[in-house]
Amino acid sequence: MTATLFELLTEAQSKLSKPDARRESELILAEICGISRSQQLIHPDQVLSQNQRQQFDSALKRRIAGEPLAYITGSRGFWDMDLKVSPEVLIPRPDTECLVEHALARIPVDASWQIADLGTGSGAIALALARERPQCEIIATDLSMAALVIAEENARLQDTKNISFAAGPWLQPIKNRLFEMIVCNPPYIPADDPHLKQGDLPAEPEHALISGSDGLDALRQIIPDSVTHLKAGGFLLLEHGFDQASEVTRLMQLAGYCEIFTEKDYGSNDRVTGGEIQEKGRS
Ligand SMILES: C[S@@+](CC[C@H](N)C(=O)[O-])C[C@H]1O[C@@H](n2cnc3c(N)ncnc32)[C@H](O)[C@@H]1O
Repeated sequence: MTATLFELLTEAQSKLSKPDARRESELILAEICGISRSQQLIHPDQVLSQNQRQQFDSALKRRIAGEPLAYITGSRGFWDMDLKVSPEVLIPRPDTECLVEHALARIPVDASWQIADLGTGSGAIALALARERPQCEIIATDLSMAALVIAEENARLQDTKNISFAAGPWLQPIKNRLFEMIVCNPPYIPADDPHLKQGDLPAEPEHALISGSDGLDALRQIIPDSVTHLKAGGFLLLEHGFDQASEVTRLMQLAGYCEIFTEKDYGSNDRVTGGEIQEKGRS
């Protein structure tokens, strides 16, 4: 029980036996035991208190059993924020920051737009947009009340005021409103996709991941329904699977969108497709 930080990290790394085991062990030590990574570097001979050692062992055990690190530490970095997460919400992905970037590229810095984020989960996209464009009003929706509780808590922790929340399926909770932009990272994985058994996915909520047999059920609903919720010149931006861009483009053309574009994620996969509606109220 008297191992130094260096010994503890070396042992944890070998027990975890995965490519980024060292980084994960350091993060557990930092976020669960309160010993920052710089402190770990400067004082490798430090010994944990009994309480810290118990916390470390229990967190490591959960990680070895396959629980996502973000659910163990209770947080995940997204954009410039440290967001609270729980097993009720999808763990925000770095690739989703691409959706934020391409949305921001279309929102003038001083715009006072009304923007909707559908299926907000932890509030990641909505909060990034709200903070980058403080004069815009963001409304974030989700079917999951548990997710909205986390998203609201994140808005409070980030002291972000230009955001509100509504519960219900996709556009239903905002059915009487018009927006300059709608963004959405919907569930888009096919129900039988083998990736669902890999990495963190088995621990994440199914309703945040899976959307029918081809992964496109949610997008088939959101794309036509969003048309009547956009002002003339309004944008729809969607995250989707690496092989779904052509079908999403086709669905957007069919719904009346124009200036349709697809952008790649950090791994060079097609990830975001968007378009503009030129006439208000088309369907
Ligand atoms: C892929 S997650 C995205 C979460 C978050 N926006 C992000 O990017 O990290 C999809 C979200 O859609 C929500 N969702 C699933 N079905 C829905 C529906 N029918 N109506 C509204 N939201 C839904 C889930 O609860 C989940 O939070």
